[in-house]
Order: sequence, then C-alpha cells, then structure tokens
Amino acid sequence: MATTIDPKFISSSLIRWYGQHKRALPWRDTRNPYYIWLSEIILQQTRVAQGLPYYLKFVETYPTVQELAAAPEDDVLRLWQGLGYYSRARNMHHTSRQVVQEHNSIFPDSYAQLLRLRGVGSYTAAAIASFAFQEKVAVLDGNVFRVLARIFGVADDIAVPASRKTFQAIADSLIPADAPDTFNQAIMEFGAIQCTPLMPDCLFCPLQQVCFAFNHGMVQELPVKKKAKAAQPRFFHYFVFRHQGQYYMRKRLAGDIWQGLYDFYLFESTDKATQPAELAKELQNSGLEVQEEQIQLPRKDYKHVLSHQKITARFYLIELESRLREEITQETRLAAFTTAEIEALPKPVLISSYLKDAGILVNL
Ligand code: ADE
Ligand code: SF4
Repeated sequence: MATTIDPKFISSSLIRWYGQHKRALPWRDTRNPYYIWLSEIILQQTRVAQGLPYYLKFVETYPTVQELAAAPEDDVLRLWQGLGYYSRARNMHHTSRQVVQEHNSIFPDSYAQLLRLRGVGSYTAAAIASFAFQEKVAVLDGNVFRVLARIFGVADDIAVPASRKTFQAIADSLIPADAPDTFNQAIMEFGAIQCTPLMPDCLFCPLQQVCFAFNHGMVQELPVKKKAKAAQPRFFHYFVFRHQGQYYMRKRLAGDIWQGLYDFYLFESTDKATQPAELAKELQNSGLEVQEEQIQLPRKDYKHVLSHQKITARFYLIELESRLREEITQETRLAAFTTAEIEALPKPVLISSYLKDAGILVNL
C-alpha cells in the first residue's frame, strides 16, 4: 500500500472534481435530516436512477416525518412497491414512529444517536450526520471502498467485515473538518461516475498521478471482492382462487421474503416439474376441494431473481363454485378481494406481473 500520498491533495482534488461533475439531485439541496434519511434508505441497494422517482413520491406523499408515521403500513409498502428489499420500508416506517414518539418528531442530530434508529447502520448514520449536521464522520459504501482500494492499493477483501477498519482509517485521514459533507458526497460521486467498477475514466482523472492501481496496472484487480454464493433456486406454485370476480389473497408473514406484501395461496416444491396430481393432493390435504382436472399447467414460468434466491413461479387459476369455507380461510389466512382492492394492496413485482398478464389488473 502506498503511504506517501498527501491527504489534503486527495480531498481537495475530490472536492474540486465534485464541483465540476456532480449531478443535481434533490436530496443534495437540503439539510433537512428527514429528507436526507429518506433518500439514504431508498438508495441503499438501489441505483440513483431507480431510486429518484421513489424519493420524489415519498417526499410528496409524506412531506414530514409525522405524516409518514401516521400512514398505515400497507400504504407505505404500496408506495415502495418495485424497489425490493421490503424490510427497508418496514424499518423506515417503524423508525418514523420512533422519531415521532421518542424524539418529539425531531431527528437525532449526531452519528451516535442516529445509529440507534432501526434500519440505520454505520453508512447511513454517517451520511445523515455529515449531510444534515456537518459532523466529521466519513462514509463507507461500495463506491468509497472501490475508490480507496484503487488509490491506496488496498487489497483487503471488501466482502469481509473486518476490512472495514482499514478503509475507515484511510477515509478518516482524508475527511476535512471544514467540509465533511462535501467530501463524503464527493468521494461517493467520484466512485459512481469517474472511478466506476468496470471502465473507470483513468485518462481524465485528477488522481491519476497518485493512484496506486493506475500506476501498477491493477485497476481491474482492485478492489478485491470474493464471489457471493450462488442464489438458491425455489419453485413456487401459486393458486389463484377466484369466485364471483373476487380473488383470494393473503398477507405474507415474517420469516421469509416479502413480509407484509400480499400474494396467493402458495405451495412450494423442490422442483418445478410438479404434476397436477401432486398439486391437487397438496391442496386436498389442506382441506381445499380441488380436483386434478381443474389444475391446468400454465403456459408461462415467471422468474424473479433476488440477492440470494432465484424464484420460478407458476400460477394456476382455479374457479370456485362457492366461497371458501370459514375454517379454510382461517387456516390459510386467505381473504377475498375485489380487483379495486387488489390494486391498492402492496404486492411483490412477480404477483403484479401475473395480475397484469392475466388481465386481472389493468393499471399498474
Ligand atoms: N447513493 C447513496 N447515497 C447517495 C447520495 N447521497 N447521493 C448519490 N448517490 C447516493
Ligand atoms: Fe480511479 Fe483510475 Fe482515477 Fe485511479 S486513476 S482513481 S483507478 S479513475
């Protein structure tokens, strides 16, 4: 690792670069910690282009933390629909209530206090503390890891939590006391635009002369990140029970993906080639009187890739001759919904796609 680089040169170069190249983003025009917090929760695991319209929707729908706290959870999840990692939305909603009830609706104003909020880890606490309150605490995210690994020639595996210390020490040595907020924005933006993962623009880089990776031909080798495990395959068989224009759905419970979102009666199997006879048997075991002949193999498989899971789903539409009996709805937690009601429910994107393809929902 190169150790002779002047920290002041790096920080002022990044800040100068930022002044010339930064994107105009709405959360950069504010020091309101509520807006900054919203933007940072939305941008966790999400690209700016994808997150921006959600940020605008949330700010418009819930202009204050009190309004977010007062909203029903289903509405918050519905507005979040399509962003994925739904625990972020549930934690965000929980935290808004915590801020209202325990902090008199005023956001905590220090890194240490912010860290105690649910869904706020060290990255997010540092971002809010520096952007809203100019606290001198350096952010570390994927962009910052990459920029520092390349400039300083750090070969520690960024996927290993213990590597954080090394990077934090470097970032702490760079961040200036008189502009911690601008420095943090600058280094993240530099990673997002200039020092990108695959094709960094080294030829026009203000740090080229001091950059270890550039000078050692190691730009493609740094940062070091060990491969994630392959995603687990899962096979979902969804039964869409319809009766008199209503559809049976249920809210998903804790302990699996999509907690709090609505889907249909689900049978999960270990392979997708599950035959109608087996599916009918599974339903009959749960007290649902469905005959094998009523189950038509669908024409289409739906694929949905999450960070650790690869889901293949099939949907089977079943016309019921009568409503489901109460003991069944209690046991399965299914309830009948009109299409207007379904429109308003928070749903996994997979379910929305099916509803649209099947012509059940038109506006999405
Ligand atoms: N990604 C996460 N936080 C960000 C921010 N404040 N600006 C741009 N991209 C970001
Ligand atoms: Fe990144 Fe290339 Fe600049 Fe080094 S020279 S900081 S690798 S863009």
